[in-house]
Amino acid sequence: MRTARWAMEVFVTRRIPAAGLRALSEAGGCTVQQWDSNEPVPRAELLAGVAGKQGLLCLLSDRIDKEVLDAAGSGLKVISTMSVGFDHLALHEIKKRGIRVGYTPDVLTDATAELSVALLLATCRRLPESVEEVKNGGWTTWKPLWMCGYGLSDSIVGILGLGRIGQAVARRLKPFGVKKFLYAGSHPKPEIAAEFQAEFVPITRLAEESDFIVVTCALTPETQGICNKDFFCRMKENSVFINTSRGAVVNQEDLYNALVNGQIAAAGLDVTTPEPLPTDHPLLSLKNCVSRVEGCDLGQSSFLLHTSVGQADSLSMRFVILPHIGSATYTTRNTMSVLAANNLLAGLKGEPMPSELLL
Ligand code: DGY
Repeated sequence: MRTARWAMEVFVTRRIPAAGLRALSEAGGCTVQQWDSNEPVPRAELLAGVAGKQGLLCLLSDRIDKEVLDAAGSGLKVISTMSVGFDHLALHEIKKRGIRVGYTPDVLTDATAELSVALLLATCRRLPESVEEVKNGGWTTWKPLWMCGYGLSDSIVGILGLGRIGQAVARRLKPFGVKKFLYAGSHPKPEIAAEFQAEFVPITRLAEESDFIVVTCALTPETQGICNKDFFCRMKENSVFINTSRGAVVNQEDLYNALVNGQIAAAGLDVTTPEPLPTDHPLLSLKNCVSRVEGCDLGQSSFLLHTSVGQADSLSMRFVILPHIGSATYTTRNTMSVLAANNLLAGLKGEPMPSELLL
C-alpha cells in the first residue's frame, strides 16, 4: 500500500472532465470530495465542503470570498480555478492568508478567440435570424433587400484588451480583409501590436472609429462598466459590439438603450450580468423590437443608407447572446481541467505550479 507523505484533502466544486479528476486521484496522497453535479454547488454546501480542506478546485461561477475562506479555515493552502478569469476570487483576502492561486491561461486562448470570431460573424451577418426565417417560413425567395448585414472586408476593428485572447482574435480576423486594427487598454504594446499594425488609441477613439469592437479585456476595478453610455454614444450607428470577456465590463442598461435607440447596429454577447441571464431580461426582448427607423430622423447617416436597403426587412434588432461558451470545446475543457488539477497538486506539494497567479 502506498502511503502518501503529503496526505491532503481537497474540495472540487463541480463535476469536471474526467481527465482532471483522474489527474487528482492518480497523484495519490489527496482525498477528493466533490460536488458531483453539472449545476453549481449551493452556497451552504460550498461552505461545508471546503471546511478543513487544504485545497479547493473551483470554477468561475463560484464566488470565493471572505466567508468561504473563513469556512475553509487556516489550513487552506491552494485555490485552483478552472478558468483564466479570476474576478470571482477575493484576491486581497487570499493574499493576506498566504494562499496560493492557480488558474488556466493559454490553454483556452484558441477556443475563445475562435468563438469570438464565430459570434462576430453570427451577429454582423445575422445568422440566428436567418436560420429562424428558414424554419418559420420567412424564406419565400431570394430577396435583394433581405437579411443584409455588415462585412469585415475593408473595416476597422477595435480590440478592447490586446492580451492573449485579443491577439488571437486579431490574428484570425486579419485574413478577412480588415483594413485597420485599433486597440485600447492600460498601456501600449508596440511589439505585440506590430503583428497586426494595430494602433494604440484612447478608448474614446476606439469607440468612435471602429466598425467592429471586440471586448477581450479582463474584468478589473478599472474595466468594470467601462463600456457605458458615453462609450456606446460614441460608437458609429452601423457598428457592431462583441463581448467575450466578462459581462460586468459592460453597463448592460446602457447597452440595452444603445440598441433600442439605434446608437449601434448590433451586439453579440457570450457573457452577461448575471449569468445565466434571466429569460425575462429586457435584453432578450430586443429580438422583437421594431428598429429605430420608425419615428427617427437619421438624415443621411450611413445607417439610414444601409437600412434603406433593408426596408423590406423584418427590422428586428441584431442581438445575439450565447451562454458563456467561449472555451467550450472538448479538448479545451479537458486540458483546463488537467491544468487546474496539476496546479492544485503542485501547490499542495509546495512545488512551482504550471500556471500560478502571482499575487
Ligand atoms: C475563463 O476561463 O475565464 C473563461 O471565461 C471560460 O470560458
